[in-house]
Amino acid sequence: MPQPDRLPPPLDPKLDLTALAPMQDVTDLRFMSVIANYGSPDYFFTEYFRVYPNSGLNQNILRSITENSTHRPIFAQIIGESIPDLVRIARQLSHYPIAGIDLNMGCPAPRIYRKNVGGGLLRDPEKINRILGELRSSVDGLLTVKMRIGFENTNSFDRILDLINLYDIDLLSLHGRTVKEMYHSAVHYDLIAHAVEWVNCPVLANGNVTSAIAAATVLDRTGATGVMIGRSAIRNPWIFKQIRQYLSGQPVSIITLAEVRDYIEKLRGMTSATTIPERARVNHMKKYLNFIGQSVDSGGAFLSQMRLARTEVELFGVCDRYLLSHPDRAFALEPYPGLIARPSCETAQESATCL
Ligand SMILES: Cc1cc2nc3c(=O)[nH]c(=O)nc-3n(C[C@H](O)[C@H](O)[C@H](O)COP(=O)(O)O)c2cc1C
Repeated sequence: MPQPDRLPPPLDPKLDLTALAPMQDVTDLRFMSVIANYGSPDYFFTEYFRVYPNSGLNQNILRSITENSTHRPIFAQIIGESIPDLVRIARQLSHYPIAGIDLNMGCPAPRIYRKNVGGGLLRDPEKINRILGELRSSVDGLLTVKMRIGFENTNSFDRILDLINLYDIDLLSLHGRTVKEMYHSAVHYDLIAHAVEWVNCPVLANGNVTSAIAAATVLDRTGATGVMIGRSAIRNPWIFKQIRQYLSGQPVSIITLAEVRDYIEKLRGMTSATTIPERARVNHMKKYLNFIGQSVDSGGAFLSQMRLARTEVELFGVCDRYLLSHPDRAFALEPYPGLIARPSCETAQESATCL
């Protein structure tokens, strides 16, 4: 397994790496600091900076770098296809305290891939060749890639892995699904294992890593250097600490429903600005509660009740009812079978195609 020599030092060099997956409209400055409060991953990634002619740096996303209080390295993710602009933005970002530049080649949202950016790039290995070549020669620091295993199929997978080697990419985060598979299919861990064999850099296995035990199983199946976790870190922000516990042979902390209620309060603190209309605050909270609710009760009553709430009083009343009536009850380590977070994809706009 390639050693992550060039990468920033992990929290515990004896353990496999962990990273919080970039998630648009979720992994902002405040969410990352909430996650850090429960046990940081080794690495964070920003939401993507959109790059196009004359684009600037999104100031909100930039704050997750300039005001990063997690004490952990953060990679700046960029998405785009205009090579001079990708180079320009990567150079600008290099002046900030980032661990490296991460190129998004995986976003499956149709409105994104239709512009040949994100996952759309996977249809055009020659374009990837030019982009990685230019970025590599113009960026001094670490250059990393986050991608899926293909667009419609995996015909170009090996060609793209060759490019990862050709340009000495420092870290590959690999979501084991094609773009067309969105979030529905099983994750092709065998193809992540194939990439681990093929490339010279460390690989983070991504896709449906739902718990510490699942992380250990995925690490075992793929031989990856670490795991990258998205949705399950929204559901369970203790997951990175639990992975470290499990991998070092310690008992995994059991989280009570009262602790989960406290986590929800921290999330609420992020969105309580009175300048934001109550309806928007409620909807914003529901985005997180959709994931959290998968581990509250096996019948999904919490999820259906919270989806009906229209006001903050109703919403947090549902939280109190389900989480504080048996505060010492354990929050399930895995999502209960059959409970689906809606939406479970990049943006609400795309949710119709994601489900
Ligand atoms: C709400 C949401 C937003 C996302 N935004 C991004 C993004 O900005 N950049 C990116 O590379 N991937 C993005 N993704 C994909 C995740 O980083 C990750 O690859 C995917 O969720 C699979 O990992 P998981 O099963 O652990 O959630 C997003 C996923 C979700 C659910």
